[in-house]
Amino acid sequence: MHGNQRLNREGELNTSSRRQLWINGLDEESRRLLEEDEAVFIKQSMSTPCMDVIIDAEGCYLQAMSGQKYLDFHGNSVHQIGYKNPYVIEAVYKQLGNIPFIPRRYTADIAVEAASRLIEKTSSKDYKALFVPSGSAAVGLALKIARKVTGRHKVISMWESFHGAGLDAISAGGEYVFSKDMGPMMPGSIKAIPYNAYRSLIGSTSKEAVAQFCLDYVEYIIQNEGDIGALLLEPIRATDVHVPPASYFQRLKRICATNDILLIFDEIPTALGRSGAFYAHQLFGIEPDILVLGKGLGGGVIPQAAVLARTRLDCAHDISLGHYTHEKPAAGCAAICATLNYIAEFKLLEHCNVLSAYAAKRSAQLFNRYECLGDIRIAGLLICFEFVKNRKTKEKNEDLAERLLYACLKNGLSFKLSAGNCIIWHPPLIVTTEQLDFAFSVFEKAIRECTGVLDF
Ligand SMILES: Cc1ncc(COP(=O)(O)O)c(C=O)c1O
Repeated sequence: MHGNQRLNREGELNTSSRRQLWINGLDEESRRLLEEDEAVFIKQSMSTPCMDVIIDAEGCYLQAMSGQKYLDFHGNSVHQIGYKNPYVIEAVYKQLGNIPFIPRRYTADIAVEAASRLIEKTSSKDYKALFVPSGSAAVGLALKIARKVTGRHKVISMWESFHGAGLDAISAGGEYVFSKDMGPMMPGSIKAIPYNAYRSLIGSTSKEAVAQFCLDYVEYIIQNEGDIGALLLEPIRATDVHVPPASYFQRLKRICATNDILLIFDEIPTALGRSGAFYAHQLFGIEPDILVLGKGLGGGVIPQAAVLARTRLDCAHDISLGHYTHEKPAAGCAAICATLNYIAEFKLLEHCNVLSAYAAKRSAQLFNRYECLGDIRIAGLLICFEFVKNRKTKEKNEDLAERLLYACLKNGLSFKLSAGNCIIWHPPLIVTTEQLDFAFSVFEKAIRECTGVLDF
């Protein structure tokens, strides 16, 4: 029980009256299927009960049974190269007809190729890989490597972070909606202050000052807690898109090296070009000791995650470290190779950076027009619009963000809410300028409707 404490919210609540109104507005057939879904699936916050029924997903779009089509800028961040990507579908079909499953005591060329190509994309190429069926399990594996190598179990991670739903991952994660009713958490999980120059705890909004403050606190924890083995964070948090300056990462790296702590980056939703660099940390000129990948890695088709650890960390030969049944997943590896081919062939990194600049231009226009926008943060095609009641006080406007979500859904644009008042767009990297224009026009119309601004 948390009494009257005002806790941070994460996504849009599936128990809200607006959600019920939305469902009431759907056709009878869709409502029937939603009821059937609720009857067979275990309910949980932010998933079941669901909001709509889909019958297809292709490119940037979801097709609902009701006939509504959504331009999907949410996609659980798996649709970097679009839904039903032809390269991935073809490669997976081919692999299934060739070798569908690789038992753990064997290997196959597709597994070696997938691992080598992910390593090849790192700057130093000095990594070794393990495949894992989910992001959450991959984070758990990264923490296990750190324990084995350092002999220390304590880990520093960030408040407000998310690293997956497993018990180890929610212990490291900093969101109450995941740890509520679950205690006790894994011993040795220590939280630091995430970088946030918009709502900084020191008053200053100077990126450098905030970065140094956050790292002073990390050092303070290390000096007082002792026995820290790892530091885990998302270099750019996907759900609020705060982008620390390069100096933050350089000092973080030094702190870890000086204190013999392994630096783990969770890039599950942000790698593979979404930040504008292939791996998000490549924007900052440093490399982590362990890198965790997932989501779009399986090409939006296969559940697939991976851990890349520096070669020198390959020293757990005597234990079963990541003993997963699907350790060398044939279909997943085919999907990884096809995803990498597609990103390279269609120059999606370059495309991402061009469209990012366009999104920044359109966003700046919105910011100049609407006082309800407190801050807009963009890195590649990670886009966050933060809604406030007042630009000076920065009081969160959660109600407006939720109204905007439903107003946009009605007009065919889907996205995620986070931190209660942030609207997050993660368009697929294949998004076009026309699709971005459509999204901005639906969004602006919704802002005008919901804030009572009369039309021009
Ligand atoms: C940053 C981050 N880490 C870990 C995970 C967990 O990944 P999975 O859902 O595949 O377990 C997620 C999923 O949303 C994520 O966003």
